[in-house]
Amino acid sequence: MREILGIDVGATGIKGALVNVKNGKLASEKFKIKTPAPATPEAIYQCIRMMADNFGWQGKPAGIGFPSIIKHGVSLTASNIDPSFIGYPIQEKFGEIFGGRLVVVNDADAAGYAEMTHGKGKNQKGVVLLITLGTGIGSAIFLDGKLLPNTELGQLLYKKSVFEKYATNSARELKHLSWKAWGKELNTFLNHVNLLFSPDLILIGGGVSKHFAQYEPFLKVNTRLETAQLLNEAGIIGAAMSAAKLQD
Ligand code: BGC
Repeated sequence: MREILGIDVGATGIKGALVNVKNGKLASEKFKIKTPAPATPEAIYQCIRMMADNFGWQGKPAGIGFPSIIKHGVSLTASNIDPSFIGYPIQEKFGEIFGGRLVVVNDADAAGYAEMTHGKGKNQKGVVLLITLGTGIGSAIFLDGKLLPNTELGQLLYKKSVFEKYATNSARELKHLSWKAWGKELNTFLNHVNLLFSPDLILIGGGVSKHFAQYEPFLKVNTRLETAQLLNEAGIIGAAMSAAKLQD
C-alpha cells in the first residue's frame, strides 16, 4: 500500500490525512487545524508543519490542494486567503517540510481529480464539471477524464461583482438567504456555465451538497446534475493523488 499525505487548505479549516493512493481511501484519521487569520504564507507554513509533525511525515511525499490559481507550484490569486499569497512559490517554500517532495494544485482541481477517479465521475466520458460550494466557488472541468486546470468559474462577473459573492454557501449564510432565494442565484450560475461548456454531467460538491434536496427544486439546468460522492474527503484524496508521481 502506498500512502501519501493529502492536505486540503480551506478558508476556514486545514484538513489532512494519509491516503492510500491506490484505492483512494483514507489510511488514517483526519487531522484538522483552524485556518489562522490572517492566513499569511508564514502562518499557513506553521500549520502545514504541524500537519507533517502529526503524521510523522517530514521528508515524505505530500500533496496540497490550495484555494487559488496554482501554476507550476506558485499561487497567482487570493480571493479567500491573504493577498500576500499572490505570486508566492508555495510548492518550493512549503516543500522544505517534505524534503522537496510536495505537489501543490488548486483545491477544486484536486477534489475533481478524486471524484473522477473514485467517485461519480469514474469512467465518465465527455465533459464533466465539478462545482464545489464552500466559502468560495471552486470549479474543475474534465474532458474524457483529463483536467483543464484552474478554471475559476466562481470569478465570472455577475451583478456588481462575481458569482462567488452570490451563489456560494457562505453568501447564503451571510445574507441569511432562503433555500429558494439562494437556489435561484445558484441556478443562474449553473445555467451560465452550462451555456459556456455544455457539460454532460455537473457534479455539486462541498458541504452544502448534503442539503441538495432543499434547493434542487429551484435548479433547472438542461443537463445531468448530481451531487458529488466523496464529499468532504475529495480535496484530501485528490491532493494526495496529485503527488502520486513523486518518489518515496
Ligand atoms: C478560489 C478558487 C477555489 C475556490 C474554492 C475561490 O475563492 O478563487 O481557487 O478553488 O475558492 O476554494
